[in-house]
Parts: sequence; C-alpha cells; structure tokens
Amino acid sequence: MKDFKNKVAVVTGAASGIGLGLAKRAASEGMKLVIADIEDKPLQAVAEQLTALGAADVLAIKTDVSKADDMDALAEKTIEKYGTIHLLFNNAGVGGGGCMWELDTDYWEWVLGVNLWGVIHGIRTFTKYMVAQKEGHIVNTASIAGLISAPTTGPYTVSKHAVVGLSETLYGELRNAEANVGVSVLCPAYVDTKIYAAERNRPLEDAVKNDPARIAEQKAIEEMASEFFSSAAMATEAVADQVFDAISNDTFYILTHPKGSKIQIEKRMHEILDGGQPSSTGPEDFPFE
Ligand SMILES: NC(=O)c1ccc[n+]([C@@H]2O[C@H](COP(=O)([O-])OP(=O)(O)OC[C@H]3O[C@@H](n4cnc5c(N)ncnc54)[C@H](O)[C@@H]3O)[C@@H](O)[C@H]2O)c1
Repeated sequence: MKDFKNKVAVVTGAASGIGLGLAKRAASEGMKLVIADIEDKPLQAVAEQLTALGAADVLAIKTDVSKADDMDALAEKTIEKYGTIHLLFNNAGVGGGGCMWELDTDYWEWVLGVNLWGVIHGIRTFTKYMVAQKEGHIVNTASIAGLISAPTTGPYTVSKHAVVGLSETLYGELRNAEANVGVSVLCPAYVDTKIYAAERNRPLEDAVKNDPARIAEQKAIEEMASEFFSSAAMATEAVADQVFDAISNDTFYILTHPKGSKIQIEKRMHEILDGGQPSSTGPEDFPFE
C-alpha cells in the first residue's frame, strides 16, 4: 500500500510510545484514525493532537485489547463510522521481568492477554474486511524478543515469539488466498517509550497496587529505566518512519536496529543448526544499532 490519504487506520496502544508515533505519522498522511488504548484520558488528549497534525478524522475508543468483547466493539464502531479499514496496527503491549519459576499465573495471563490475545483479537475482528475489499496491510508489533530468547523476560519472550509465528502464518494464508493484504511484523530493540512503566496498567487488587513497598520498588525501577531509555533508545518517530516505509515496500520483517539484530539472530540460528546451546544472558543482548 502506498497511498494513505483518507484511508482508515486502527492503532492499538495509541496513547503512548510506538503506537502514538504510528498514529501521528498516520495523521500527518491525512488518514482517518481509530485510536484505542486502555488509558482513556491520555487517549482523548492524543485525539486532539492528531487532528492538529492533519488527520482526516479521529475516533478514540477506550479498549482493553485482551478482552474479546472490547475488540469486537472496536471493530463494530470502526465499520459503523468509516465502513472499512485499510491499516491495522496491533501494537498495544506490556512487559516486565523475573525468573519464570517466581512468576504467578496472573502475571502470565496479563502479559499473554495483552501481547498475544490482543493481536489475535485484532486479526480475528478486522482481517475479513480487508480480504473482502482486497486491500490492506496489518502490522503486528512483536520485538527483537520474538527472534531471540533472553533470560528474565519469560512471558514477554513467549508472547513475542508467538506474535512472530502468528504473523508469518498469517502472511502465508493471505498470500495463498490472493487477498492483496500485506503483513509486517515489527521487531524493535530499545525504543524510547514508557514500556518500563507497563505495570501502571496491570490489573491488581487495590491492596497490592497501593502497597507502599511495591510503589517504592516500581518508582526506583522506573527512574532508572527512564534515564536509560531517554539516553540510549531510538525515537518513536524513527520507528514510525521505518514502519510506513515497510508498508509502502511490502517488507515483512521490520528490524528497527538491523545491524545488531542480525548478529543476534545469526547467533541463535547457528546455535540451533550446529547443535549449540542458547547463549543469551539477558535483555543486555538486545542490540543498540
Ligand atoms: N519500547 C521498546 O523498547 C519496545 C521494544 C520492543 C517491542 N516493543 C513493543 O512495542 C509495543 C508498544 O509499547 P511501547 O514501547 O510503545 O510502550 P508504552 O507503554 O509507551 O505504550 C504501550 C501502550 O499500550 C497501552 N496498553 C497497555 N495495556 C493495554 C491493554 N490491555 N489494552 C489496550 N492498550 C493497552 C498502554 O496504555 C500504552 O499506551 C508493545 O507491544 C511492546 O511490547 C517495545
């Protein structure tokens, strides 16, 4: 797809970070936008920004992507208002850390619910409209963590490997159906967003959420991470440019940090093919260039 003006884009996780960057770029292309996020207040503020940037129209809908009913409603409202969809960005995501034997079931369900089921619901509810009109492009946000496996990122790594596999499978299905619907899988390394504060959206009981020790621990993590991300990570605008180039050129794998990603991916493939053992030691293996 090369011509974006007046076409319809749906972006999940649009209130912050990469989703916001994608929504701004779509707005500056003169698209009609449906923006979705679990955080309603920032989402409404983003809607105003997008109009100022040149969006043809904006519909902001509070949505929890992990919930089937919310995603059904998002698709229904999109079709009701615009009658169609051309670009789907399944982008909302959360993450955290910890050794897998120490993580509880709720944590696994939260991360897989948003990062994997959110993408599944997006595919389930929107793809048929693109197939019927024989035009569209779907971008699923995975991660470099979908192509390599780093210790202490268990649920995140599982969800992102699944999104890469899902995207590759979807690509083949749409090609076999001659649907003229493109697919890309976005595999970023470090991007300057608020992903390190993803716990803000974790469904927790009030007693746990308001526990002073937990609040202090989160604050310390977020202060450290915020300094690291703002100094070392890629700008969301640069990621959005890469994504729109990929849509225009029908590129499937989008590696935001291609040089370092290639080294890590080749290393993993050699470990698989040569009978080696996984050598990644943690998120410090994620590339910076
Ligand atoms: N920032 C990075 O370094 C990086 C690297 C690789 C992949 N990613 C991926 O990029 C995507 C976007 O994350 P980001 O880095 O922009 O983080 P971010 O926290 O800045 O933005 C994520 C957005 O998703 C929203 N969200 C969270 N849970 C939701 C839910 N249940 N339903 C709807 N919206 C929800 C948040 O409110 C937020 O607006 C994620 O899928 C993430 O895994 C990020």
